[in-house]
Amino acid sequence: MKERNVFMTRRIPDVAIPILRQAGATVTVGQSDEEKGLTPAELLAGVRNADVLLSLLTEPITRDVLNANPRLLGVANYAVGFNNIDVVAATELGIPVSNTPGVLTDTTADLTWALILGIARRIVEAHEYMVAGRYKLWGPNLFLGGDVSPGGTGKRKVLGIIGYGRIGAAVARRAIGFDMDILAYDPHNPAAIAADAADPSRHVRSASLEELLRESDFVSLHPLLTAETRHMISERQLGMMKKTAYLINVSRGPVVDEAALVRALRDGTIAGAALDVFENEPLMVAGLAECRNAILVPHIASGSQDTRDRMATMAATNAVAHLKGERAPNVVNPEVYDSAAYVARRSAASA
Ligand code: DGY
Repeated sequence: MKERNVFMTRRIPDVAIPILRQAGATVTVGQSDEEKGLTPAELLAGVRNADVLLSLLTEPITRDVLNANPRLLGVANYAVGFNNIDVVAATELGIPVSNTPGVLTDTTADLTWALILGIARRIVEAHEYMVAGRYKLWGPNLFLGGDVSPGGTGKRKVLGIIGYGRIGAAVARRAIGFDMDILAYDPHNPAAIAADAADPSRHVRSASLEELLRESDFVSLHPLLTAETRHMISERQLGMMKKTAYLINVSRGPVVDEAALVRALRDGTIAGAALDVFENEPLMVAGLAECRNAILVPHIASGSQDTRDRMATMAATNAVAHLKGERAPNVVNPEVYDSAAYVARRSAASA
């Protein structure tokens, strides 16, 4: 195979590099500074010289970007979510797109649980109190929070899961240990809900969105970001939640109307929120940082060393398949392989 170039927009874990090199690829990294992104011009320049693009969720891979190079053989996204890529345009242009599903499910579900427990039991506030030297005397009213398990009331708490794909279901599995009831809402995944609901030990039940919002003590968001799910949690939906309930979002920021959430946190419409993702990352809407009843972390749900390495291996393996013109193991637009546009692109690339 002649030498090919993979343009990696930003550095991903080093395990990816030998996989790409062994396939005969040179690797160009667009930006090595962890705290800097690429300018649109740098992204375009990189794509123009690439056979395959290895992108991160921080780069919008628009139709213009995809159109910049008729020899581009594929886009391997280093993320399970691929809302940063115009997949419709990619398919029309004959470009396969791949992602990194499965390997980050458990790590993301674990972080969801860290946020559920952290917000309910006010861990961050209590930590700040300790390190500020404010703990003078134990008292019965220090940082009173909400229960996750039946706790003081003996009544099972309800966890509402919106988006019952791999991650939503993994979050539900962990709730068994906390004796919770699960309400699940996912119009695209009724079979997954039905399968778990069939096992009485799982305590899973399908619910409408409204029922879930009204009855849950915790609402955890796991849908894909689409036109349908953008702002699916806004003022009206927050108003349906219990005043004692908590909202957790590890999916994509724009699923929640962040300005409406700040109002709900300020006026006590809900008890608290824990967010891993933000509407306009890395920014936060005005007022969010000041909400004491919020835990805010910088999109780290899949951030364990092992998981990030596995994502890098998977993205590199997908990139190699794109380079070789083989079906990528995790392609998200498989129909592209049957298209005339893909065949034309492959012959342009080998000319
Ligand atoms: C993803 O993979 O989509 C996460 O948001 C980052 O790991």
